[in-house]
Amino acid sequence: MYIYIGLGVSLILLYTLVIKPFISLLLIKIKFGKQAKLIFFPIFGDIVEIQGSLKKYNDHYESIRRYFRENKDLKFILLNVFKTPFILIGDPEINKLIHINHENYKKIDFLNNNSRLMGQGLLYQYGLKWKNQRQLLGKPFDYDRLKSRIPMMNQVVKLKLKNTYQTPLDLTRSIAGEVVIQTFFGKEAENAELNKREAQSEIVELFNDVAEAIYGTLYGFMKWMILGEKQWKIFPNKMEKDINRRIEELTEFARKVIDNRITKIKQEGFKKNEEDFDFLDIHLKEFLGEKNSSGITKDEIISQFITLFFAGTDTTSSVAAMSLFYLAQYPNVYEALVKEIENVIGDGDVLDSHLSKLQELNSFIWEVLRVRNPASGPLVRMAIKDVTLKDLHIKKGWIVMPANFVQQQTDKYFQNFEDFDHKRFMKSQAIKEDNGFVNIPFSAGPRNCIGQHMAIMEIKIILCHILREFKINTVPDKMKNLQWKAKFLYFHEPLDCIQLVKK
Ligand code: HEM
Repeated sequence: MYIYIGLGVSLILLYTLVIKPFISLLLIKIKFGKQAKLIFFPIFGDIVEIQGSLKKYNDHYESIRRYFRENKDLKFILLNVFKTPFILIGDPEINKLIHINHENYKKIDFLNNNSRLMGQGLLYQYGLKWKNQRQLLGKPFDYDRLKSRIPMMNQVVKLKLKNTYQTPLDLTRSIAGEVVIQTFFGKEAENAELNKREAQSEIVELFNDVAEAIYGTLYGFMKWMILGEKQWKIFPNKMEKDINRRIEELTEFARKVIDNRITKIKQEGFKKNEEDFDFLDIHLKEFLGEKNSSGITKDEIISQFITLFFAGTDTTSSVAAMSLFYLAQYPNVYEALVKEIENVIGDGDVLDSHLSKLQELNSFIWEVLRVRNPASGPLVRMAIKDVTLKDLHIKKGWIVMPANFVQQQTDKYFQNFEDFDHKRFMKSQAIKEDNGFVNIPFSAGPRNCIGQHMAIMEIKIILCHILREFKINTVPDKMKNLQWKAKFLYFHEPLDCIQLVKK
């Protein structure tokens, strides 16, 4: 009797976990022939491929890139995540459809803390909630409104440059985190502390630890797969308990700043000039208003702060630090940028009027974003209904990923794609066969990055100050072990393979 039950359960598991997803993918492979590549690893799925790539090429993404380079007809790779088909797409025409028809998909929150961290913020909301939030934040992220933040950005960079940090990424994170905190909460939250350290380091570490608790061990990964968000509530281990406590501390911190501001507004009213509003004022104007037509809640405001912190800190700081990495490799580019900064700005602070004149620096940042965009992973989505992408049928629940990192590094779209050549972006036709969805480090379509102007502005200001004060060297011993890893973001390890040396 038990044998038959065991056999029955095994057959069901075999069918669900292996046969069903495999057949779905195989049928696509048969239909598309050379345009599709099937890479199926039961249960462990894409992780096996990217770990294999790391071993072979010291880069989680390189094997995928090579498949596309070696087969010019290739449009998608057919993988699996556990039991779910996962289609990685390197074709800009198909990716355009995904970006434009964004409402057919749900973003996957790989940190799986939905309601407690970012679940209620702009990055992971969809439908009407997303529309309302996007509308609310559209204006303050306008370039003209952002200009008023430039003096604050200069000040934060100059202050942070007085401290010492273990790695260049620690420095740029500290800057980018402080900029988001002050953009959201204003001066009140300047130099805030959490868990007995500077708030931005703690929040970044918290995200890293959440990722570690999920992906760091097989136990954590299986628990996450089976329990989802309940992972943190059901028999939490020591690390999970610690994370729960720290999330509590973070949300309490945000709640306190919000409550204090509400009290102040009730006593003194809002600031007279809306141009002086920080992001908290903007949200509270809606929250405390008579209509509150978007129905925004205090929890959503907290989630929005965490979202903007998450979306705006590690991305911006990684691109700034990645820029330093490339400047250490290419001293002639470093010299050219230093000269441009000297000519355009001289010794003082970076002003709005300087930014558009820093053309070589601008092209350099775009080239860094082409060759190593750290934000390549967040674009994974799940179809929330059956979808047809040209003649590719995606079933509800399947996962798709528009793979910019493939398109950005192939001779199909970029001449001499292997060269780091920032001047390509100073020419009129940098991209071949461009449909507007080839080189999109900030994504594209209605769900593109709302913070992209802020990011470019901030990276320019960070680099101007650093380049004026520091030389950037590689550390040869560390460079020997260089690897490119896609954790949540894509970055190099070890982090200390470059160093800043005061001039
Ligand atoms: C160089 C730095 C940055 C890069 C490379 C970057 C990249 C991206 C990408 C690729 C997306 C699309 C994600 C997806 O759809 O899955 C995105 C969305 C987003 N980004 Fe950025 N980002 C950067 C900086 C920022 C900054 C500074 C902020 C705000 C402070 C920000 C806030 C957001 C938000 C809120 C979204 C979600 C928008 C929506 O879904 O409507 N980002 N970003």
